[in-house]
Amino acid sequence: MVDQASRPVTVEAVQDGPLQIKGSFRLLDPTGEEYDLDGQRVVLLCRCGRSAAQPFCDSSHRATGFRSADRPVCVADAG
Ligand code: FES
Repeated sequence: MVDQASRPVTVEAVQDGPLQIKGSFRLLDPTGEEYDLDGQRVVLLCRCGRSAAQPFCDSSHRATGFRSADRPVCVADAG
């Protein structure tokens, strides 16, 4: 059995929604201060830009009709 701490972190772009991050990780603000995630193993980060609780998703993407790309654009392919 693999314990939670040794599992790799996964980041999933939710269709028309946030980035869902699972695993054991630290989240820092621009000053290097660590957010208190209170042991959460799943965090949703806003990628629509409309959340009032940045950087976290507050579900505002639903009311604003945010639509993500069907497939992520690879940076190497974009340039
Ligand atoms: S992705 Fe949910 S509020 Fe922005």
